[in-house]
Amino acid sequence: MKRFKILGTGTALPKRVMTNADLEKVVETSDEWIRERTGIHERRIADEKTSSATLGARAMKAACDQAGIEPDSVDAIIVSTSSADAIFPSTACWVQHELGIRGMPAFDVAAGCSGFLYALEVASSMLSAGTCKRIAVIGAEVMSKVVNWEDRTTCVLFGDGAGAAIIETCEEDRGLLASNWGADGNLAPILHAPAGGTRMPASAETVAKNLHTVTMQGRSVFRHAVRAMTEAGVKAVEDAGLSADQIDLLIPHQANMRIMEACRVRLNVPEEKMFSIVHRYGNMSAATIPVALHEAREAGRVVDGSVVAFAAFGAGLTWAGAVVRF
Ligand code: UT7
Repeated sequence: MKRFKILGTGTALPKRVMTNADLEKVVETSDEWIRERTGIHERRIADEKTSSATLGARAMKAACDQAGIEPDSVDAIIVSTSSADAIFPSTACWVQHELGIRGMPAFDVAAGCSGFLYALEVASSMLSAGTCKRIAVIGAEVMSKVVNWEDRTTCVLFGDGAGAAIIETCEEDRGLLASNWGADGNLAPILHAPAGGTRMPASAETVAKNLHTVTMQGRSVFRHAVRAMTEAGVKAVEDAGLSADQIDLLIPHQANMRIMEACRVRLNVPEEKMFSIVHRYGNMSAATIPVALHEAREAGRVVDGSVVAFAAFGAGLTWAGAVVRF
């Protein structure tokens, strides 16, 4: 068990709401198609000036405010993102820049939509090793700036937002009861941004062809996602030595209601115990789990002693499962 307690959580969600009806004016799609295939009704879209670090910093500040601490009192900042501010430096360093703080290590974890659970694994290991006492774990995304707004198979799926959790070492029996993580890089080509890095540097041609945006083989991702996410969730619950009825809440990565439902059914968790925000925010990649966690806490669905199962999959492909006692 990797012990930690949550001092505070917070979110940052852009004000602008884009509904499915709004999207009908952008690409050839329909509210009905999007709802039926994904469960998404609307998503938030950041303005021109807002980056992942802007949202990440706001979410971290909100989490610190809830915890009653100053942002510069954390020993490390870990940001998980699929829509980094730039190739370098890390979005976590831009978060420091936004908050005007310095000194503590700040780095990114790139694991697609599994990023927040990866970052939680890294952070809780750092706490267990005693190298840090208090860590800000952030999931921050401005996916609207990395999707191709001419591609209806992807642009309807994503949204912008950030969530943060401040975690701290503790002596009590709280924290990660069990967790697992994995990746299969052989599946990298089914969900990626082809250009803009060293593999295919940005050029006039890559920009003209929109090659720096999300490219996805939807059906293939769907198939692997259901398998990877459910296996990771089931393993985490089994390794925690728990039965389904001992899980108070399931918070899966919120990419698509059908994938979430498959995970819930496989885990044998009743409908009312799955926390869902996908209808309001779409797929915010690494930010979906921390935003959902914050909203679940605000709604009184995660309280002292609650046992929550998490499961995620993402570009890579990556996957992760975790069971946390709060
Ligand atoms: O965090 C990881 C992010 N990625 C994912 O989670 C994606 C996983 N995959 C999925 O969620 C699903 O595959 C989608 C929601 C992307 C697509 O659902 P699907 O049931 O797999 O649809 P499909 O790709 O098989 O497409 C069915 C039809 C096609 O038309 P034809 O060929 O049957 O005539 C598509 O062209 O739906 C069409 N289509 C659309 N129609 C209206 C695709 N996108 C749209 C759209 N609006 N936005």
